[in-house]
Amino acid sequence: MAPTATVQEPEELQDTIKRLAALKPIGHSRGKHDVVTGFDKEWADKLPETTKQRFAKYGIDISQGYPYAPLNEKIPKFVDEVYAIRKDEFPYVERGKNADPEKKLLFDAAEDVIHLTPYVGTEIVGLQLADLTDQQKDELALLIAERVVVFFKDQDLSPQKQLELGHYWGQVEVHPQATRVGPEFDGVTVIWQEHQRKRWGLPLTFKNSKLGNSQWHSDLVHEFQTAGITHLHLDAIPGIGGETLWSSTYGAYDKLSPALQQFLDGKTAIYRSAHQYLDRENPLKGPKYVEREHPIVRTHPATGWKYLFVNRSMTVRIVGLLPAESDLILNYLYDVIESNRDIQVRWSWQKELGSIKKKEDGATAAEPKVYRGVSALWDNRVANHSVVHSEESIVGRHGTRVTSLADTGYFDANSMSQREALGLSLD
Ligand SMILES: [Fe+2]
Repeated sequence: MAPTATVQEPEELQDTIKRLAALKPIGHSRGKHDVVTGFDKEWADKLPETTKQRFAKYGIDISQGYPYAPLNEKIPKFVDEVYAIRKDEFPYVERGKNADPEKKLLFDAAEDVIHLTPYVGTEIVGLQLADLTDQQKDELALLIAERVVVFFKDQDLSPQKQLELGHYWGQVEVHPQATRVGPEFDGVTVIWQEHQRKRWGLPLTFKNSKLGNSQWHSDLVHEFQTAGITHLHLDAIPGIGGETLWSSTYGAYDKLSPALQQFLDGKTAIYRSAHQYLDRENPLKGPKYVEREHPIVRTHPATGWKYLFVNRSMTVRIVGLLPAESDLILNYLYDVIESNRDIQVRWSWQKELGSIKKKEDGATAAEPKVYRGVSALWDNRVANHSVVHSEESIVGRHGTRVTSLADTGYFDANSMSQREALGLSLD
């Protein structure tokens, strides 16, 4: 006998949709546990000491719990609601574009400026991010665009100031459901792997340490205007381990043959979100990602250099190719980004602060220098990044992240690659 289709009456369907909308959010695609909304009452005590000190100093109240996720009724359940959050172009000022190319105000004020590799990663020594003038912030934006990632150690930085800096460099991304410092801190996202592992059920174990933000990725590529300057401030670090790696996608583009560069120039790809939502038209079909299309080779507005815009975690397919063709090429591009160490920098957040012998400022091994937090600011457009999760380094690592959204992304056929522009060998 042929199966009989059950036709759901419109009213009944509306009722089903309402009931689905009242359920808990689906959350991160890899999370195994229910999403905890509101204040997390059980976790405030587990915060590392240095984080507690930072929060106490800057008046952040964790007495009701920590971290904070938006209340259930405020979290979108349907994918169309998420698309609607930022669907139209908003004004964006590329701060680095009008900066002094010599960056004199920034460099003269710094005690030292240390390039960590020939073309990726620079450390600024002896400056507090909280004290930068607008001109210095513009010069820093250009330095980040050129060097991919810039580091500042020993920073006295409140979450409020971190947010203010983010607003200067662009519209701050407010995630529909990621945990934040508190209800008044939209845009200050909590980065706390131990919480993710235990609360969300992300299976980060020694044998499974390449999950989550350990997989090479770039943040928020499903946005209409994707992430520009991303500022991670770690206010607590483990004694050793927990490094972060960045790979330059200017460099990755330069690694390709001219024929493959030409093939990719002008093509677009589809990018997806990390979190999932329901399709209102077909809610029972299962969770869906937010997806958006961007050029696969883009031109950076400040440097004018071409860069490859792909990452293993969030790129779905190259538009116009068969799935097998797209997979083959994308996997090759991921391999170029992930395996070429000469276009990467690996940052140890501790360095001498982790030393048990070095005496600085009269501090002894028994009275180590106070850890005040380290900031990494990268241009998310021109980088993939990856955290080294080791079982031992997850505990005691905590930070806050603020992301400034940038341009919609464009490809200028007349733009040059980084190595072309700098007159370096193209072999
Ligand atoms: Fe990330």
